[in-house]
Amino acid sequence: MNLTDRIVVVTGAAGGIGAALSRRFAAEGAAAVVLADLDADAARAVAEGIGPVAHAAALDVTDEEQVRALVADTEQRYGRIDLFCANAGVTSGGGIEVDDAAWDRAWRVNVLAHVYSARAVLPGMLSRGGGHLLHTCSAAGVLTAVGDAAYTATKHASVGFAEWLAITYRDRGIRVSALCPQGVDTPMLADGIVEGHLGARVIAASGAVLTADQVADATIAGLAEERFLILPHPEVADYARRRAEDPDGWQAGLRKLVRRLTA
Ligand SMILES: NC(=O)c1ccc[n+]([C@@H]2O[C@H](COP(=O)([O-])OP(=O)(O)OC[C@H]3O[C@@H](n4cnc5c(N)ncnc54)[C@H](O)[C@@H]3O)[C@@H](O)[C@H]2O)c1
Repeated sequence: MNLTDRIVVVTGAAGGIGAALSRRFAAEGAAAVVLADLDADAARAVAEGIGPVAHAAALDVTDEEQVRALVADTEQRYGRIDLFCANAGVTSGGGIEVDDAAWDRAWRVNVLAHVYSARAVLPGMLSRGGGHLLHTCSAAGVLTAVGDAAYTATKHASVGFAEWLAITYRDRGIRVSALCPQGVDTPMLADGIVEGHLGARVIAASGAVLTADQVADATIAGLAEERFLILPHPEVADYARRRAEDPDGWQAGLRKLVRRLTA
């Protein structure tokens, strides 16, 4: 997919990766970019910075009615949605001690929201014979987010769901991409580094921390090639291969890194 004249929706677009994707889609010639976020004021500020093709919308991605209404409103206004980016995501910040409410939130934002948007947007895409779903998962979805159990489990689920969609709908014209960055310099990671969170320190020690704009560059290239797995950090492919070939050795290496960082 190239972005010229496309109608695009991005969730979690008020900052970080979602804002960078929205800016980049507009720069690539999208006809409309809808920036949806819980934080509607911040989404509006980003949209105003982009210009007239950008529109902000208040959205809680965990509320299926709101997702349906946003999709219906966008289709009514622009006639279609070519690319839907399920990008909003949350961390839980802990292990098994994290309470059920935080596990539930991670499940709802990182996984169930992807189901809601697919349910809402696929009928229109299928009736028009095509469309692209971009799900922001994470390298945590193919590896492990040390220090965050719920993030690891739900991001693995999000990659699994994206793969299921890709296999199920590809022959009916639907392209699916799973964006799986490692460390990206956004509030999500920066807050963890400032607070000395183990997971954030492991990420910082495991490879380059990219800017959100670099993630947007990689996404544009991945969409152009209609690739399923978009890896802004190419080393993640090597890590995933090593993990698949030798799970025990992979885990031993990570434990060693954690011991070094916590010594
Ligand atoms: N920053 C990283 O290192 C990193 C690495 C890999 C993957 N990711 C993923 O990238 C995506 C974007 O994260 P980011 O780093 O830009 O984080 P961020 O915290 O800067 O942005 C997340 C955005 O999602 C919005 N959001 C949260 N819950 C929502 C909800 N229920 N409904 C609507 N919007 C909601 C927030 O308001 C925020 O604007 C997430 O899915 C995250 O898991 C981030």
